[in-house]
Amino acid sequence: MIKKPSFLVSNTDYKKCPSPNRPEFAFIGRSNVGKSSLINMLTNHKNLAKISGKPGKTQLINHFDIDGRWYMVDLPGYGFAKVSKSLKSDWDKMIREYLTRRENLTVTFVLVDSRLDPQKIDVEFIYWCAENAIPVVLLFTKADKLSLSKTNANVKKFIGAMEEMFEEAPEYFITSAQTGQGKEEVIRFIEENVEE
Ligand code: GTP
Ligand code: MG
Repeated sequence: MIKKPSFLVSNTDYKKCPSPNRPEFAFIGRSNVGKSSLINMLTNHKNLAKISGKPGKTQLINHFDIDGRWYMVDLPGYGFAKVSKSLKSDWDKMIREYLTRRENLTVTFVLVDSRLDPQKIDVEFIYWCAENAIPVVLLFTKADKLSLSKTNANVKKFIGAMEEMFEEAPEYFITSAQTGQGKEEVIRFIEENVEE
C-alpha cells in the first residue's frame, strides 16, 4: 500500500534529479498511452501527475516521493508526431541519458496500449532498452476499453512479438487506470523490488 505520495521536482537533466539513494521506478511509453493516469491510479490520487486528453502533456522528468522509501518517475511520452525535430532530439537525449545513466533506476515500466496491435515504435524502444541492459516490465494500459477476450488477444500478440526478439519476453501486467485493474499486482511487484 502506498500511504503518502508527494510530488518532488521536475527536471530536464538526469544529473539534477534527486539524490539516487533509493530504488526508482520509471513510467514511459507512447504519448497518451496513460502513464500519468496510471501513476495517479497506483498512488490513489486524482491529480498527482498531470493528465491530458492531448498527447504531449508530460514534458519533463517528474519525480515523486513514495512514503520516503522509493521514487516514482513520470516521463514524457515518445512518438508524438506534432513536436518539431529539434524537440524530438532533445527528448531523445534527455530520456536516453536518464535511462542509461540513472544509477538507482530499478525497473522501467514501458506502457503499451492494450487496444492496439504491436506498434513498431514500442517494439523498437523495448529493443533499445534491452540493448542497453535497462530492465523493463510491460504494463498494458486501458484494459477497460475492450472486451477481456480482445484485450487478452492483443496482449498475446505483443508478447509473441517479444518472444521472437528475445529468449524470454519481459514480465507484464494488464492495467486500467479507470477500473484499478492491475493495481495490487503492480504495487506488489514494486514492493518486492524495494525490499531486496
Ligand atoms: P503524455 O504525458 O502526453 O505522454 O500522456 P500520458 O501517457 O501521461 O497519458 P495520460 O495519463 O495523460 O492519459 C491520456 C488520456 O488517456 C487521458 O484522456 C486519460 O483520461 C486517458 N486514459 C488513461 N488511462 C486510461 C485508462 O486506463 N482507461 C481509459 N478509458 N482511459 C484512460
Ligand atoms: Mg503524462
